[in-house]
Amino acid sequence: MSLRQTDNVPSSHLVHSAGSRFSRIAGTGSYLPPGRVTNQDLVDRLARDGLETSDDWIVERTGIRARHFAEPHVTSSALGLIASQRAIEAAGLQPADIDLIICATSTPDMVFPSNACLIQRDLGIHGCPAFDVQAVCSGFIYALTVADAMIRSGGATKALVVGAEVFSRLLDFTDRTTCVLFGDGAGAVVLEASDKPGIVSSCLHADGQYAHMLNVPGNVSGGSVLGDATLKMDGSSVFKLAVSVLDKAAHEVLDKAGRDPASIDWLIPHQANLRIMQGTAKKLKLPPEKIVVTVDQHGNTSAASIPLALDHAVRGGQVQRGHSLVLEGVGGGFTWGAVLVDY
Ligand code: ACO
Repeated sequence: MSLRQTDNVPSSHLVHSAGSRFSRIAGTGSYLPPGRVTNQDLVDRLARDGLETSDDWIVERTGIRARHFAEPHVTSSALGLIASQRAIEAAGLQPADIDLIICATSTPDMVFPSNACLIQRDLGIHGCPAFDVQAVCSGFIYALTVADAMIRSGGATKALVVGAEVFSRLLDFTDRTTCVLFGDGAGAVVLEASDKPGIVSSCLHADGQYAHMLNVPGNVSGGSVLGDATLKMDGSSVFKLAVSVLDKAAHEVLDKAGRDPASIDWLIPHQANLRIMQGTAKKLKLPPEKIVVTVDQHGNTSAASIPLALDHAVRGGQVQRGHSLVLEGVGGGFTWGAVLVDY
């Protein structure tokens, strides 16, 4: 497998000059639904269908110890709403101050309207642009980069960027290679205009030739689901691709800023698999203590995982003002990207 990451890639948007407008993270929030499912709970559930798994296998191969599943009537926008309220409060703002809403999700409540519009409605906000971004597990990186670009170009001043998922709805519980990996949750940040960065640099990439490696091959047609609407994944191919692109993406955003990996205070990768995160940190020559790890507590929550991990690290006192962060994601599409943040 070879990846030509620089093909068709626009040049850096990094411009630092007097009077420039940037964006900064003003507040973070997250939410996990209360239904916590341990590895042992899954061992018991799968055993009822004659499938074997174990806490040892899941912990050793993935680092996951538990995930949260939302109740059947609870949607991703409902999770996103609570994360959003927490982020807005942390930013010291009111919902009415928000003038852009972007929600990253692959498990929206409806085909349309977007989750962003539903969150807008439930926050009581009227009139500002609101739309979803669909880039699977890189969705939050895509959404943050789009929000940053809109703020920098003067199209918004206070953006709510949300990642919200109910991946439990996509799982095939007769496939032990995937159903133990994913969970539900939401995270959000408020990004606001600033005279210094904030979001220092970012990169986004995609290569649809890898669409077959990770997908949910179903859609809605004529009132029913056409195809198979459960998650399919070639785990070992995904693993190799993920480590390769995450290393390149981190270097790309650092290079754009003229910095080296040693300048990173915290690496906040997509929380899919502890071994992928450790492999990425090793390639960057970062000690494991510099990785924010929350995958053990919520599994892979796709577009929600990076803002969940960020909020956890902010509220836990790990990430502090002045720290330099690399956020990075990889997911179905394939899509990948990174954002360098001066928090
Ligand atoms: N419990 C017990 N055994 C299992 C389980 C399970 N839940 N699942 C698979 N096995 C078995 C397999 O059948 C296989 O048995 P065999 O050797 O007798 O055939 C053995 O374990 C090893 O299977 P592998 O697939 O080779 O295991 P691997 O070490 O590659 O780990 C895993 C599998 C965890 C899926 C790994 O490949 C991985 O993490 N891949 C990346 C997944 C990922 O991060 N996806 C998300 C990124 S993109 C996004 O987030 C949407």
